[in-house]
Amino acid sequence: MEFPFTGEPIPASEEAVYAAFPSYRQHGLAMFGPDRVVYSADALPILQKLYQTPLHADDLWLLTPPKCGTTWMSELAWLVNHDCDFEAAKSYLVPDRAHFLDMPVLASPRGREAMTASGSRMMMPITDRPRPWHIQTHLPLNFLPPALLDTCKVIYVVRNPKDAVVSFYKMLQNNKTLSPELTVDQYAELYMADRCISTPFFSNVLQAWKQRNHPNMLFVTFEEMKQDLRGVINRVAAHLGKQLTEKQLEQLERHLSFESMKDNQWVNKENLGYRKTDSSTGESQAFMRKGQTGDWKNNLSTEVAQKMDVWMEENLRGTGLELVTELPKK
Ligand code: A3P
Repeated sequence: MEFPFTGEPIPASEEAVYAAFPSYRQHGLAMFGPDRVVYSADALPILQKLYQTPLHADDLWLLTPPKCGTTWMSELAWLVNHDCDFEAAKSYLVPDRAHFLDMPVLASPRGREAMTASGSRMMMPITDRPRPWHIQTHLPLNFLPPALLDTCKVIYVVRNPKDAVVSFYKMLQNNKTLSPELTVDQYAELYMADRCISTPFFSNVLQAWKQRNHPNMLFVTFEEMKQDLRGVINRVAAHLGKQLTEKQLEQLERHLSFESMKDNQWVNKENLGYRKTDSSTGESQAFMRKGQTGDWKNNLSTEVAQKMDVWMEENLRGTGLELVTELPKK
């Protein structure tokens, strides 16, 4: 099956976009498919290839919008699928245990070259990896192989976009993708206007939400993981046909706590250049930043937060999906 979509460049006249994402100015950004998903302008041949990713019933596909708990769920699902082998989990989740499928379309050509030159295995074709594959991707369902859901177990994780946008902004500032002048409010405006890498958020989420009752789909929220991690572990285990002992459940719950994951070198992405603290500003630059629900309140202005509420309400109306932006105190 051929990838059925094309792309349309974001013109240089959209100065706000290129001012925000200066490293994409040279080669450009483009919008792909009917939902106009934003990737590097040269992404089409890569998307065509990813659409042909071979499917095997024993592979696991984890789908998320960026910053919605990919790493958290990836570690959870990997351990459930590997009978809680905590020793084997002492190797880098990304890129060694999980394959980050859409990294090449998110990165600019320069970013890709730098990763390849540094010997990083992030750019390695999936077919060079040993199977079964544990795949992480932010690609929307309609960009993935059409037989995916009828063939493989899929887990989808979403998070309320107010926290996701703050987390995304902080990460892209830390890895110098964004202009240092860009504020989090400005980033949130671009995000709602579907002009950030990997946006639009809602078409990605709602495609998966529509498939929530497919027997191979497990749809989970970050906030459910925050509130009832044990419950989510049990749902993932049932989805993957695995039985965990009470002891394994206890160990896994402890292993997946924010406190434990932030100090776990195999998941906290120090291998990918995320540092603990910026030596000049003293600010935390950890990938595992705060792990909270409601941190948007410390970052977004009241005006932008209210705009996001309206945007969420408009996009979720009639869908039956609720995204929680604040959790009751435990
Ligand atoms: P914050 O930046 O809000 O702290 P992804 O893996 O999709 O990029 O998502 C990263 C976000 O998930 C970060 O959010 C990170 O701290 C959070 N996260 C990762 N592991 C977590 C855990 N064990 N508990 C709570 N949050 C976690």
